[in-house]
Amino acid sequence: MVPELASRAHMQNIVPVVDEALKQSAVKLNDIDAIAYTSAPGLIGSLLVGVQFAKSLSLALDKPLIAIHHMQAHVMANLIGDNRPEFPFLCLTVSGGHTQIVQCNGPNDLVILGETIDDAAGEAFDKSAKLLGLPYPGGPLIDKYAADGDPEKFKFPEPKVEGLDFSFSGLKTSILYFLRNAGKSNSFKEDIQVSEVVQKKFMDDNLSDICASIQNRIVSILLNKLQKAADETGIGNICIAGGVSANRGLRKSITELGRTKGWKVFIPAFEYCTDNAAMIAITGYYKYLAGEFSPLDSATSARATW
Ligand code: KG4
Ligand code: ZN
Repeated sequence: MVPELASRAHMQNIVPVVDEALKQSAVKLNDIDAIAYTSAPGLIGSLLVGVQFAKSLSLALDKPLIAIHHMQAHVMANLIGDNRPEFPFLCLTVSGGHTQIVQCNGPNDLVILGETIDDAAGEAFDKSAKLLGLPYPGGPLIDKYAADGDPEKFKFPEPKVEGLDFSFSGLKTSILYFLRNAGKSNSFKEDIQVSEVVQKKFMDDNLSDICASIQNRIVSILLNKLQKAADETGIGNICIAGGVSANRGLRKSITELGRTKGWKVFIPAFEYCTDNAAMIAITGYYKYLAGEFSPLDSATSARATW
């Protein structure tokens, strides 16, 4: 992703998107009660476009502002629709920049129980895909190829991390060496060009099995920690959220695990897993009910981290 291009695209699209949303929902700007917007974390240039637009709209319409944390919104996506978890619930939030286990005691009462100490799960998918020569974002492509592969064919190590935290950087390194060694397993060991050809052939011949095995390991890392969190807290309402929760392997495995553990598992519809505006709106709705509004000053401005 090129940050400069992303913010330019935001500038070009924000007015048409808002117009289209108002048209589709048949709501007039003056009918809305408050303006919720993503304040952080994320790409600063893109966030700035949204923040300035929201603040301008708030001033022009004289409507209150509600700053939203992007990761809280991913969790809250589980409260969209009729099939909603009761509080407290645990949420495994897995996106391109974050991997967290969050205990949600109420709409505005979230506690992080564990998180990644290095790469996020989405990054693990995307970086593995890059090593396989797949384009960005590689997560959905690994998901696609994995559907026809054998998840047990190749074994990647499980990191040893204390408590409820995650680590994915070792997995990336082990995949890198696994692919390099695959390229070397020929009689022309010293010839780099030949070894690259062999490596490419190995990847092409085994793409589905490699993807299925990588996905299997990422999912098992996530679910082992989630299971630990559920055991430790005694909470049986379990949700997933974030872009990686669109992964079919994760959705299937968590459903099966939930059945054996007696959990109530909640999985957002695909369109509410990856980044979307509805999750910002529902988070804003609960903050509105709680009277949690944001001032127009710099404290509610765009921030890369929160
Ligand atoms: O939540 P999200 O849309 O944006 C962030 O807030 O980061 O998550 C994007 C991440 C990317 O890493 C992308 O590869 C991953 O979610 N992703 C998937 C799938 N769909 C999106 N990873 C695995 N399988 C998928 N089906
Ligand atoms: Zn996101």
